[in-house]
Amino acid sequence: MDNSKKFYIATYGCQMNVHESEKLAGVLIDRGYTQIDDETKADIIVFNTCCIRESAEQKIMGNIGAVKPLKKLRKDIVVAVCGCMTQQTNMAIQLRQKFPFIDIIFGANNIEYFGDYLDTYFGQRKFQNSVVYNKDYMEKGGNLTITRDNKLHAYVNIIYGCNNFCTYCIVPYVRGRERSRDPEEIYKEVKNLIAMGYKVITLLGQNVNSYGLDEGGKGVTFAKLLDTIAHFEGDFELRFMSPHPKDFNDEVIEVIAKNDKISKYIHMPAQSGSNKILKAMNRNYTREKYLYIVDKIKAKIPNIILSTDIIVGFPNESEQDFQDTVDLIKRVRYANAFIFIFSKRKGTVAEKMENQIPLEVKRKRIHELLEIEHKISEQVFTNMVGQTTRVLVEEERTTFFVTKTQCGKVARIMKKEYPDVKLGTFMNVEILDYTGGNLIAKPC
Ligand code: 5AD
Ligand code: SF4
Repeated sequence: MDNSKKFYIATYGCQMNVHESEKLAGVLIDRGYTQIDDETKADIIVFNTCCIRESAEQKIMGNIGAVKPLKKLRKDIVVAVCGCMTQQTNMAIQLRQKFPFIDIIFGANNIEYFGDYLDTYFGQRKFQNSVVYNKDYMEKGGNLTITRDNKLHAYVNIIYGCNNFCTYCIVPYVRGRERSRDPEEIYKEVKNLIAMGYKVITLLGQNVNSYGLDEGGKGVTFAKLLDTIAHFEGDFELRFMSPHPKDFNDEVIEVIAKNDKISKYIHMPAQSGSNKILKAMNRNYTREKYLYIVDKIKAKIPNIILSTDIIVGFPNESEQDFQDTVDLIKRVRYANAFIFIFSKRKGTVAEKMENQIPLEVKRKRIHELLEIEHKISEQVFTNMVGQTTRVLVEEERTTFFVTKTQCGKVARIMKKEYPDVKLGTFMNVEILDYTGGNLIAKPC
């Protein structure tokens, strides 16, 4: 019988949170716990939360509430809540009032001390609230055990926090100011990952191309960081997520264009295609500037695949403003667009703006935009038929291999015709067809 203690982590939100859950798992595995997928059998349940939109918070609240009967049944279960949601002013207190069965609350800014909080909790069996509200707090970094979820893909933090204060966004309030990680620490971590056989390294930050604008980067710019890593020995691909258009300079484009190891896929959030709305969002670029950068990227990097984030229904967004966004996505032709309905976030500038858009208008706009983007996306992938591209072989199914393109699109290789494909390797393929949302490919 397996007597080991077990833990379950529920992760919500972005890649940053996914990666931070890998660090939380590392802390628990170091202490002899085993990770499981069934929360009803866990001894420790961790909620790593997100607060980017109200819908995320509501879902999380519901899921925390659902643990109550479990905790009643087994009083020794430890329930911990951490991440962005808890970093909001007074949220820790509110959470505890609503859910008195929570044992430990800590913030996104102090996950590295999770082990210490557990020790204190087990010593005292008393509620621990360890949210650090100091926004300039710097994670020591680099010395945490990370239990990575995937054997081929690895995330590496390069910068924490955000200085942009887009008027809709809560991130700068909960994650604090920009803090670049020491470049030598990043190089060491990436080299280790390559040596361990990881194939896709994704550099992470709320705003990756602000890397090095603060002292932490020791004078290394984002372009230099990318270029240096792209020259490391080994068979790997380098990605990054997410850049801000205002810092997407020529040097970065050059570095991507000239290095084969850097992915030819860029996720560049536009948020809106209307100058009036971009200004009200405090995005620091115009639609013309955004399109100018996109044109430059397309000219320098043939076959580049682009994706974006869009918010519809920002306060004061007129039908014309919305049509400007429609026009922007038609011009850029994104392979993928993550489209969100504007959600009021407490403490942000947009929360207090007049002319909030009614929900039914927001819904109508999101449906219209999703439909248009779906058609564009289908065309982008249909146009890939006949092209050759590089894929990573990620899984083996009964009849086909699951390979993925640089933008994460599945390209199936049929096993009957090509049985000798090797898992975990990059290969060049020709795209034969696009059907049912998947590409069909053959080795070439
Ligand atoms: N409402 C809706 N979407 C938002 N995002 C950030 N804040 C909000 C909000 N208040 C979206 C942005 C960002 C993505 C991660 O989430 O598009 O790029
Ligand atoms: Fe939020 Fe804007 Fe910072 Fe992105 S750049 S995290 S949208 S404030």
